[in-house]
Amino acid sequence: MRAHHFFTILSTWFIGSTLSFRHGKWCFDACELDLNYAEFNDTNLALGSHKTRACQSRLRSDSLYLCAREYCEEDGLKDWVIQANETCLQIANASMPAYDDVMRRYPSKDTQTIRRLSADEALTFPILGEVVIPEHSLHERAFTTLEAAYYEYDVHLTYGWFMFYFWAAVVTIGISSRLAVRVAALRTEGSHLSSPDLHETFPPALSRRRGATSKIQAHLKRHISIPATFNNRCSEPIGWCTMPSRVQTLTILSFVLLNIGLCMIDYRTTDGNLFWPQKRGQMWRFVSDRTGIISFANFPLIWLFGMRNNVLLWITGWGYGTYNNFHRWVARVSTVQAVVHSIGYTVMTYERGGWTSFLKSLSKHYFWNGELATIAMCALLIFSVYGLRRGHYEIFLTLHIVLSVLVLVTMYYHVAIFPNGEWNIFIYPCVAIWLIDRLFRALKIFAFDPYFWRTRAVASFDTNSNLVKMEVPCERAFSKAKPGTYYYIYVLEARNLIYAHQNHPFTVAYINPGSRSNNTSDSDGTRSLLRPNLRRTGSTESDSLLLQDENSVPSLVFLIRPYDGFTSRLAQTTSLGPKNLRVLIEGPYGHSVALHEYPNILFIVGGTGIAVPLSHLRAMLSTSSSVISIRLVWAVREHAFLSSVIRDFGFLFEDERLQVEVHITKDEESKDDLLMDVLKNVEVQVGRPDVYQVIQEAAREGGQEGLAIVACGPGQMADQARQSSVNMLAKGYKGVEYFEESFKW
Ligand SMILES: Cc1cc2nc3c(=O)[nH]c(=O)nc-3n(C[C@H](O)[C@H](O)[C@H](O)COP(=O)(O)OP(=O)(O)OC[C@H]3O[C@@H](n4cnc5c(N)ncnc54)[C@H](O)[C@@H]3O)c2cc1C
Ligand SMILES: *[C@@H]1O[C@H](CO)[C@@H](O)[C@H](O)[C@H]1NC(C)=O
Ligand SMILES: *[C@@H]1O[C@H](CO)[C@@H](O)[C@H](O)[C@H]1NC(C)=O
Ligand SMILES: *[C@@H]1O[C@H](CO)[C@@H](O)[C@H](O)[C@H]1NC(C)=O
Repeated sequence: MRAHHFFTILSTWFIGSTLSFRHGKWCFDACELDLNYAEFNDTNLALGSHKTRACQSRLRSDSLYLCAREYCEEDGLKDWVIQANETCLQIANASMPAYDDVMRRYPSKDTQTIRRLSADEALTFPILGEVVIPEHSLHERAFTTLEAAYYEYDVHLTYGWFMFYFWAAVVTIGISSRLAVRVAALRTEGSHLSSPDLHETFPPALSRRRGATSKIQAHLKRHISIPATFNNRCSEPIGWCTMPSRVQTLTILSFVLLNIGLCMIDYRTTDGNLFWPQKRGQMWRFVSDRTGIISFANFPLIWLFGMRNNVLLWITGWGYGTYNNFHRWVARVSTVQAVVHSIGYTVMTYERGGWTSFLKSLSKHYFWNGELATIAMCALLIFSVYGLRRGHYEIFLTLHIVLSVLVLVTMYYHVAIFPNGEWNIFIYPCVAIWLIDRLFRALKIFAFDPYFWRTRAVASFDTNSNLVKMEVPCERAFSKAKPGTYYYIYVLEARNLIYAHQNHPFTVAYINPGSRSNNTSDSDGTRSLLRPNLRRTGSTESDSLLLQDENSVPSLVFLIRPYDGFTSRLAQTTSLGPKNLRVLIEGPYGHSVALHEYPNILFIVGGTGIAVPLSHLRAMLSTSSSVISIRLVWAVREHAFLSSVIRDFGFLFEDERLQVEVHITKDEESKDDLLMDVLKNVEVQVGRPDVYQVIQEAAREGGQEGLAIVACGPGQMADQARQSSVNMLAKGYKGVEYFEESFKW
């Protein structure tokens, strides 16, 4: 019971204050703290709470004012009295006496005759029948106790804000480096233009090209921005873990170290502390509060970094994968802090009175909600392991959402003990971020097709190539599709409506401009890609519904490799021939890298990764592009996949700047010689490509003036490409730039 008393005292002062922590205020508050140990017998001890009795007692208010006169500067006294009066009016409908009246009744010269209250006596929670003044030492202890507590409270929150400063700095660095590259490119452009010779030698488009790199930039690329954290693992998981790239790891490491540092420094413990007599107790309390508050401050960042529609994606140009790594690490740090916080409070309640005390605390709303929040956070972490994410994506996602809601709700009740909902400052942003993301998702669906309930796609599955091809008319889309961007696809199949909420990302493989477009250069490409299949399979009326007037409609084409869930259902639905499906298309997402600004481009792709180069080819080979040569190295299992791509996109391959090297890695059946003959710049080989050698060759040819290496394929392949790019940079090919389009996060 007495222990509980401590707590009430604590929360009254610790939490209730909204004034700034001026020296004066602690002094007055220390008087209150001293006198709160006592009861005064001029009120009915059987009525009301300790707080209301304190407001009603004249003996207490006199003692309080005398204490203030004795120990505190007059500065701030008036405000304090007004504040105390208001509080008492609120909680007890009793007003405080006027300060000057009290002072008149106790002239200064008589102060010495007033009884002193010692610490020893105060700590026995006495019932007093007269006016008292706390002893100086007692007042000092109260003052230092409050000063330290307020100081810590202030520091905890200040350090909580550091989380935001940190990421603001990271984002600022990101934006500046992006700008620096831009400015450097502009400068080279300027020099090209000012030199008449150069201007004559190079066609205008060339002066805009990328790849001019300073020594510093080359060093940064080689040591910081491109490499994997340690030698070569980055895309490929190590056991059940994935390892971010080196820049990301450095960023994350700084963040973790910052958090460890901020949880370890700046603790002020005091002797004779009235709240926590032992320094050990003070440390438990301060460390628990520090970790709790910083953990909580990290919440909005976790939510922000986890969203598809995150403004930072947009201003930094970093991919979702990058922010996803940040999301995980901020969440991990925050969870560890929450665990420390919970352990701390558990220990503190236990030390106050064993398990009975702990159980009693557990019955309090804020306490069990807090414990539950920590448990939910740990569960979130456990259920986000790579294995589950990989093997059962939808289960992972559902659990993730349910547990996140649980965390927010329990945290809401956890901090509800604080007045004015002041700690909701970290909850509302999470809710807002979440809602805004959902709103933007809806808007993106709407922007793709204002009549979204009528969006239809034609999809077909080819068993030989093990590939679903989906074509979606996009004539009603507000924004033009850009190469290399991706869209989330929802399939609204009557039979599978329970899966209608599932949506998965796919890169647009081909942007069909439609025949009404005035781009005549590839008029033979502006047809429905599914038409040949249609003819062969002799489809029904309904299947070809969309395709009747198809020649004129611009559309997006997706190449989809079936796996287990969403994609395998899609393959099943469409396995009997092309099917007209009701879909929702949400996008575009992702950045379209301006590949056409590089003189040389090398694609290293595997399987459906072919979508990335296909998507860029038209822009890269347009008349306004700076591209001199494109090399496409594509590893693909099935020969049928190759045939189908050549059949549909062969017209894109006819440019002589493009050289295609296909590696068939699984079936070694007869090559479709006829097909290959038509396309003399397509070379077919059997077996895996030697990524290192390919990159070395490409670097020798164009690695000085500018070479964009774009990888999109299995982890191992991407990692080899990354490492080889770094090696080429090390060999002095400064113009090498590495881009990775990952199909998994
Ligand atoms: C930016 C991007 C672009 C992509 N473009 C293409 C493409 O053009 N063609 C193509 O065939 N595939 C593409 N993918 C991969 C494709 O999204 C997954 O294969 C698909 O989501 C698997 O769905 P499923 O239900 O069949 O998954 P499962 O069989 O359950 O899982 C297969 C794999 O996909 C991962 N995965 C599942 N759902 C998602 C999701 N919503 N987001 C991210 N990863 C997920 C799983 O972790 C697992 O590794 C792309 C992925 C990303 C992130
Ligand atoms: C507060 O006290 C005054 C008299 O002191 C009384 O008139 C009034 O009704 C009380 N108000 C409440 C809400 O109890
Ligand atoms: C307290 O508030 C009441 C009501 O506003 C007022 O009448 C009284 O004078 C105040 N007392 C002091 C000490 O300010
Ligand atoms: C309060 O205590 C004092 C001194 O102990 C005593 O004189 C006085 O009668 C008490 N008052 C009441 C109301 O009990």
